[in-house]
Amino acid sequence: MPRLNTPFKIKNSEIKNRILRSATVESKTDFDGFVTDDLLELYYHLAVGGSGILITGAAAVEPAGKGFAQQICVFDDKYLPGLKKLADIVHEYGSGCKCAVQIFHQGTAGYGQAYGASERGYSLIDIRQEDIISTVKAFGQAARRVKDAGFDAVAVHGAHGYLLNQFLCSATNNRVDKWGGSLENRMRFSLEVYSAIRDQVGDEFPVFWKINTSDYIEGGNEIEQYARVAGTLAKMGVDLIELSGGVEKQVKLRARLSKEAGEHEAYFYWAVDAMKEAVSGTKTALAVTGGIRSLPAMEGLLKKGVDFIGLCRPLICEPALPNRMLNSPDKRQSKCTSCNKCFFHIARQPLKCREFDPFRSVLAGGAK
Ligand SMILES: Cc1cc2nc3c(=O)[nH]c(=O)nc-3n(C[C@H](O)[C@H](O)[C@H](O)COP(=O)(O)O)c2cc1C
Repeated sequence: MPRLNTPFKIKNSEIKNRILRSATVESKTDFDGFVTDDLLELYYHLAVGGSGILITGAAAVEPAGKGFAQQICVFDDKYLPGLKKLADIVHEYGSGCKCAVQIFHQGTAGYGQAYGASERGYSLIDIRQEDIISTVKAFGQAARRVKDAGFDAVAVHGAHGYLLNQFLCSATNNRVDKWGGSLENRMRFSLEVYSAIRDQVGDEFPVFWKINTSDYIEGGNEIEQYARVAGTLAKMGVDLIELSGGVEKQVKLRARLSKEAGEHEAYFYWAVDAMKEAVSGTKTALAVTGGIRSLPAMEGLLKKGVDFIGLCRPLICEPALPNRMLNSPDKRQSKCTSCNKCFFHIARQPLKCREFDPFRSVLAGGAK
C-alpha cells in the first residue's frame, strides 16, 4: 500500500504526496476578479503547509458564469499577470507543491449573474445553441490561460449542480436536442469541453475533473450513470477524477452522508469500487473528497486503491495540516468540526475559518 508520503506522477509532474487541496472558493480577488495580496498570502500558507497539490477555488470561464462576486476569473488575458504571481508563489515557497486552477461555470444555478438567472423559471432548455458553443470555447480558452500562467494542471468543476453537472443530470437537463435526452447526449457538453481544453493545452498538460457519484435528488443520476461518464472521460485522457456528490442542499446532505460513512469518514467511500472499475485500464488517477479528517481514514482510502485524498475545510482552519500529520509527531485528526460556517461566509466575505482562526491562534499562543 502506498503511504501518504509516496509521490505520484501525473504526466511529467511529480506530486510529492497524496494530499490534494480540493477547490475552495476564496472570495479574495477584487470585485473585478483580479488576484490580490490577500489571495497570494493564502496560497503562500497553503504552499508551505505541505499539500502535494493545491486546486484553486472555482474560477469563472465567462462573466455570465460567475457565481461569487470575488472569485478568480479566467475569461480574459488581462488576468494573466495576477494568475502568474499565484502560480509563482506556490512554486517558490511550496517545496515542490503543485497547483491547478479549477475552471467553472455557474450555469443556471446563478446568484443573479449567470445565464438568464433574472428570468424566473430559466432552465437549460433556454440556453441558445450558439451560447453553448461559445461556452465550450470559453472553457478551452480558460484552460489555455491556466497553462500560460504557469500552473501545473487545469481542473474542471463538473460536479455540485453547476453548468456541466446540469447538462449531465437527468433531473435538470430538459433539452430535447443533441444536448439532452439520453446519457450520451447529456454527456456531450462535458466531452466537448474536454476536447476544447485538450485542443488548447495539448496532450502533455494534466487535466483534472471533479464529478458527482450521485446527484442525491429525485430523478437525478446515480453511480451507474456517473461511472459511465467517468469511464468515458478517462478513456479520452482525463488525468485525475475527483469524486464528490450532490447538486443542492449540500450542508444538510453532507451531515447525513457523514453519519452514513461512519469510521470511513469519506462520504463517497461507497463509490470507490465502482469508479475504480470505471477507470480501470486507463492511466487516470482517482481522488476522493468529502468528510475525511483523520490519518486512519486517509490510509484506509489509499489501501482501497484511491490515489489522492481531497481536503477542503480541514485546510481552511489548518493550512499546514499535511505537514503536521505527515512530517511531525502530532498525528491528531483535523481540528475542523465541519460546522460549515466557512461555507456561508464566502457568499459575502473572504474565506476564513469561523471556529478556529489559524493565524490569530498562533499569535495568541495556542490552539482552541
Ligand atoms: C468554503 C467552501 C468553498 C468551496 N468551494 C468549492 C469550489 O470552488 N469548487 C469545488 O469544486 N468545491 C468547492 N467546495 C467543496 C469542497 O471542495 C469539498 O468538496 C467539500 O467541502 C467536502 O470536502 P471537505 O469535507 O474536505 O470540506 C467548497 C466548500 C467549502 C466549504
